[in-house]
Amino acid sequence: MNQSGRTSFATKFGAVLATAGSAVGLGNVWRFPYMTGEDGGAAFILIYLVCVLMLGIPGMISEFIIGRHAGSNAARAYRRLAAGKAWMLIGVMGVLTSMIVLGFYAVVAGWCLLYLYASLVGQLSGDANYVAAYFNDFTHNPVMPAFWAVAFILITHFVVVHGIRSGIEKVSNLLMPTLFILLIVLVGASCMLPGAWRGVDFLLNPDFSKVSSTVFLDALGQAFFSLSLGTACLCTYASYFSRRTNLAKTACQIAIIDMLVAILAGLMIFPAAFSVGISPDSGPALIFITLPNVFREAFASMPIVGYIMSVLFYMLLALAALTSTISMHEIGTAFFHEELHCSRRIGATIETVVCCIIAILCALSCGVYKGLSIAGRTLLDFCDFLTAQILMPVGALATCLLIGWFVPKRIVRDEFTNRGTTWVKVYGIFLFIVRFVCPVCIIAVFLHQAGVV
Ligand code: PHE
Repeated sequence: MNQSGRTSFATKFGAVLATAGSAVGLGNVWRFPYMTGEDGGAAFILIYLVCVLMLGIPGMISEFIIGRHAGSNAARAYRRLAAGKAWMLIGVMGVLTSMIVLGFYAVVAGWCLLYLYASLVGQLSGDANYVAAYFNDFTHNPVMPAFWAVAFILITHFVVVHGIRSGIEKVSNLLMPTLFILLIVLVGASCMLPGAWRGVDFLLNPDFSKVSSTVFLDALGQAFFSLSLGTACLCTYASYFSRRTNLAKTACQIAIIDMLVAILAGLMIFPAAFSVGISPDSGPALIFITLPNVFREAFASMPIVGYIMSVLFYMLLALAALTSTISMHEIGTAFFHEELHCSRRIGATIETVVCCIIAILCALSCGVYKGLSIAGRTLLDFCDFLTAQILMPVGALATCLLIGWFVPKRIVRDEFTNRGTTWVKVYGIFLFIVRFVCPVCIIAVFLHQAGVV
């Protein structure tokens, strides 16, 4: 229990692993590598690093402050920290955003689960056309994509109902180290392939000619998505942190783990793809069409190794996705449980039902119900766009404004420095960044998107 009488994470290590589990997900293993490939390799990585340092870490600390100080679900936390009901809407928006993210994320996570199954039973061993047709048939099937997405949400539900310590923390303590080991094995195998250095070179050699304003936008959007910022996720997890947790240090640790996993994912995908001369595509095609071919061709002389690599890879994806979906689910579960004064089980069930409905609609929009589209995008793409490009940055902006300008400075300082005991010297820099730098940068991104600058 923490001071507010709520459960907290049992150990600091568990808290860091669970929060890092939220950050590490499909965003790192799939989105980051292809964006790096498209946006100039190491040049993109450098810009991304600056975004994480300047905006991501201060944004994370701001959410942590709100969550830990309030010790409650996101909506109540925002209401508690600032007088004025309007701020509560930011928390409620976070809850809604996380439901939409979970809805579409579960669809892609469900694809990973199916691919794990398919590689286990050897269904992915055909040639390039076969794998492309396999993916196409599957996504156009009226039942299967929705089935796997719902299965993924149910697995998530099962973990979350067990609570913070025996559900979320236990599972993160097991999955995160497993994930790391899988990643290292896959990076090792990929980098030992003949000609792998070309992939490493592609990933790590900066190509500044590709850097444009879109690259900055991509980097910023990716930083928000990858650090789970702006969905009230970090705020919800921080409400289970102990009073002794150093918030700034924790944010830095999570950002480092997140970055490391992203770069390792790049070092797993590109060397293998380049060694067999397949150019890494972007979008879903990369992991669901291109990579099965890469595994098959790269290990053509040792099919059993190719088989193992493929199974390990989809297991890695599914586990990474699971630690993220757990965190998204917890936001709504805590909200319903505390605001509707119902049991945690009922809270989790409401969250599961709503997210399953969103997921089913998103899954169908990719195949049978192509008509289910908004503004020319399938529902799945639209949900991705709406959350990553609009709702998450708005949430992050509002959080920075709240911490920088509206919450009494005594609270911010006490939470940041643990009542004047740690990181006192950095406090001024943090405050300056959340007051000025973060809001200006996020607003600039919006203006750019709207075509104003
Ligand atoms: N950070 C996760 C990823 O990189 C996605 C996520 C977004 C998780 C929002 C929680 C909340 O895949």
